[in-house]
Amino acid sequence: MFPLRFAIAFAIILMKESICLRVVEVVVPAYRVRGETALLECQYELERDTLYSVKWYKDNEEFYRFLPKFSPPHHSYRIDGIKVDHHQSDDKKVTLKAVTLKSSGMFRCEVSAEAPSFASAQGEGRMEVVYLPKDGPHITGQQKDYQIGDTLSLNCTSGRSYPAALLQWYVNEEEITSKRELEEYSLVTHQHGLVTAILGLRLPLAGKHFPGGALRARCVARVSPVLWSADRESLLERVAPLIDNREALLLD
Ligand SMILES: *[C@@H]1O[C@H](CO)[C@@H](O)[C@H](O)[C@H]1NC(C)=O
Repeated sequence: MFPLRFAIAFAIILMKESICLRVVEVVVPAYRVRGETALLECQYELERDTLYSVKWYKDNEEFYRFLPKFSPPHHSYRIDGIKVDHHQSDDKKVTLKAVTLKSSGMFRCEVSAEAPSFASAQGEGRMEVVYLPKDGPHITGQQKDYQIGDTLSLNCTSGRSYPAALLQWYVNEEEITSKRELEEYSLVTHQHGLVTAILGLRLPLAGKHFPGGALRARCVARVSPVLWSADRESLLERVAPLIDNREALLLD
């Protein structure tokens, strides 16, 4: 009795594995930059089944379907942030034109077979759209000159991005990590969800900060996880006219 049951269970598993369609992999890019196209792939194996439909959903809303028996075989539905390029889409892939921040979400591919099996399988993947700053961070707050005992008070402001840029201050190539010397301001939100970050540097000045008579203050902005970074440097002199941001950058 026991071995027989075992054998039947085993046979069912085998059948499922060998004759049913299955989604092997759904390939969705984890990150795309706003304005780029996005290729979403649905890799499936029909085995002995016949394809009935491939449907794509974003956050559970259908936006594309491919039914080989229909003419035309594909159809797309209007969804915020989704524009399908029909010329670059078929039963195995969907290409989205110029993605926007609204294109971010969970993408699911659902494959269904015709009679007699009516089998269906699905897989999903998440895509996040990021917006990179158009320009580097800006340094403000410089004074004409500085003296020992003054407090250096600078702000670094990132260009608009999504997600927020991470800012870091360096003085003479050394990263400032002390909370006492940094002032974190809350993010400023703009249209379309873009944000700017501001990080203040509040450094009591000592002689050691001016090796060779000048202090180099540099701010680095990064938007992760997409590798984007830019920096600005200010060369601050002791009791001497200040060199402009952009000039300092050229000197670098
Ligand atoms: C730095 O930015 C904050 C917030 O915008 C502002 O209140 C402050 O006055 C700025 N400080 C300097 C030195 O620019």
